[in-house]
Amino acid sequence: MFRVAILTVSDRSSEGLRPDGSGTLIRDLISAELDAVIVAYRIVPDERPAIEATLREWADERQADLVLTTGGTGLAPRDVTPEATRAVIEREVPGIPEAMRAASLAVTPFAMLSRMVAGTRGRCLIINLPGSPKGVRENLGVVMPALKHGLEKLLGDPNDCAP
Ligand code: MTE
Repeated sequence: MFRVAILTVSDRSSEGLRPDGSGTLIRDLISAELDAVIVAYRIVPDERPAIEATLREWADERQADLVLTTGGTGLAPRDVTPEATRAVIEREVPGIPEAMRAASLAVTPFAMLSRMVAGTRGRCLIINLPGSPKGVRENLGVVMPALKHGLEKLLGDPNDCAP
């Protein structure tokens, strides 16, 4: 079972002003499509220290295999999730956001406005997703077919990749 953690980055949701439909949607999609246990879930405001501290804690202490963030990837002045993620990861995995943006552009031109990134810290894969439930569903659907294989490799699976 993969250990999955979900971080919602939203000023309004962190103040209780908006229900966190995106975090709960991630939980439902992951539970349905991956052999996973949700080990942590948190809502934080759009603040780099809070995002970075949570990502470090979950990767290093909670030993999450996968952290999915939602929100704060756009161009609004307070959108800092990509910067916080870059400060925490050790290896970037550019193919994941490249694939998500490429596929999403067929759905909406606004896809180019998400600056989401992905990368690894230790044995933890961190992936940013946009903030809306629609953006979560569409982008997670793109990465899902490669997720199990990527996590197995990250966790040290020595087998050849070729089927
Ligand atoms: N990607 C997909 N597939 N579907 C979407 O609806 N929304 C876009 C974009 N990516 C969207 C998407 C919008 S409107 C924005 S502003 C950016 O993601 C950034 O969203 P965020 O600031 O909530 O993270």
